[in-house]
Amino acid sequence: MRIAVLGATGATGQEIVRQALFQGHQVTALVRRPEALDVTHDALSVVVGDATEEAVIAGLVPGHDAVICSLGRPESGHSKAAIDDSLDVDVCFVSTQHLYRHLPKHGIRRLVVMSTHGSGSSNDGSPYVVQLRDWVGKRVKDKDDMEAFIEDHRADPIDFTVIRNPLIYPGQGGRPFGVFEQVEFDDTSRIPVSDLARFAIAEAVDGRFVNRFVSISEPLTGPSAAKWHLAR
Ligand SMILES: NC(=O)c1ccc[n+]([C@@H]2O[C@H](COP(=O)([O-])OP(=O)(O)OC[C@H]3O[C@@H](n4cnc5c(N)ncnc54)[C@H](OP(=O)(O)O)[C@@H]3O)[C@@H](O)[C@H]2O)c1
Repeated sequence: MRIAVLGATGATGQEIVRQALFQGHQVTALVRRPEALDVTHDALSVVVGDATEEAVIAGLVPGHDAVICSLGRPESGHSKAAIDDSLDVDVCFVSTQHLYRHLPKHGIRRLVVMSTHGSGSSNDGSPYVVQLRDWVGKRVKDKDDMEAFIEDHRADPIDFTVIRNPLIYPGQGGRPFGVFEQVEFDDTSRIPVSDLARFAIAEAVDGRFVNRFVSISEPLTGPSAAKWHLAR
């Protein structure tokens, strides 16, 4: 497949690019900092631009079969410790609106979008979500707005999967993980970046959770473990 990846210099985005190339896909990476993309490959094209600019998205999407959006922290090139969480963030909301405008023009239906567990209908008032929203409220608000837009546009010719992440960590993947439409997370919830990337690509290719908002995590070991509801 021909897959465009937004947020391709991020921790998850880079892993998506790497794994998609390894699986034999053609990949276009949208980046602001090409020097931060640690991958080279004959099947990789790099487009430099800001995902909030409609012209960038309009120029990016033609010729692809699917788009995976792993946009996150807005401040380019900063370490996590240097991120200013008091700033307003709208990169996910704005870029999603551009994608919904331009994907249908080219007959592209598959869109996989990274979100955060605790946004939209997963804002369940649990201790995990209350603490998360307290820490990174403005970034979660961007995801809320993005999810509300996607929900409001279900009638559009887009087959989406929204993946609501817990803590993403760089450890070794390959253990079982669950995919849930309704789940209460706790501070044992987490997903290795390699499994998350594999899941996102599988959704772009096979779409098992089309038009669903799903949370993903390794098995919980904390107090929420008994409350899981499997999506399928
Ligand atoms: N990390 C976690 O524990 C965690 C937890 C819950 C949810 N999530 C969500 O899961 C997804 C993946 O997380 P992650 O930690 O892998 O992401 P990340 O490392 O923060 O990467 C974010 C990516 O978005 C890019 N970006 C931001 N604004 C942009 C813009 N205006 N134009 C173009 N690119 C832009 C960044 O580019 P630059 O390299 O130029 O900055 C970077 O490539 C994100 O949606 C995140 O919010 C993450």
